[in-house]
Amino acid sequence: MLSDSAKQKIQELKARYPQARSAIMPALYVAQEEYGWLPQEAIDQVAAEMGMTSTEVGSVASFYTMFHLKPVGEHVIEFCTDLPCALAGADAAYERLCHRLGLDHEQETTADGAITLRHAPCLGGCDKVPVLLVDNSTQYQSMTDEKLDALVAALRAGGKR
Ligand code: FES
Repeated sequence: MLSDSAKQKIQELKARYPQARSAIMPALYVAQEEYGWLPQEAIDQVAAEMGMTSTEVGSVASFYTMFHLKPVGEHVIEFCTDLPCALAGADAAYERLCHRLGLDHEQETTADGAITLRHAPCLGGCDKVPVLLVDNSTQYQSMTDEKLDALVAALRAGGKR
């Protein structure tokens, strides 16, 4: 259930836009921050706060990869394997990182719940492969295997977001 402060934040966000429904994405971030991901209950509550249908809210949440429709680890690595990066070797780098994290193609989150690794569409750094985004906030480019190892170790050492 969304907290009262989260509901208030959503109402404040709505007031910033000429059309309240334009606040849908920041409102989904508020809910995702509270739940850690977006279960149907969160979608329904955002819909109620926004005056929209659950279908409308769910369609926005499912369109953008930064919204998590299933539980994720404490940190989320979004790894670009879009075509320009794939042509420059991103798929192989992704596979190596999967292997290092002990993940297979069915599993996105490490057994200890620390890290979720996901494919991502273009992150806007196509000439500096591999490119990845951590926790929707920090982009890393030109990552070598050594840099990836160091990043994973730092994320594990850093604990929760
Ligand atoms: S295609 Fe990977 S960053 Fe653009």
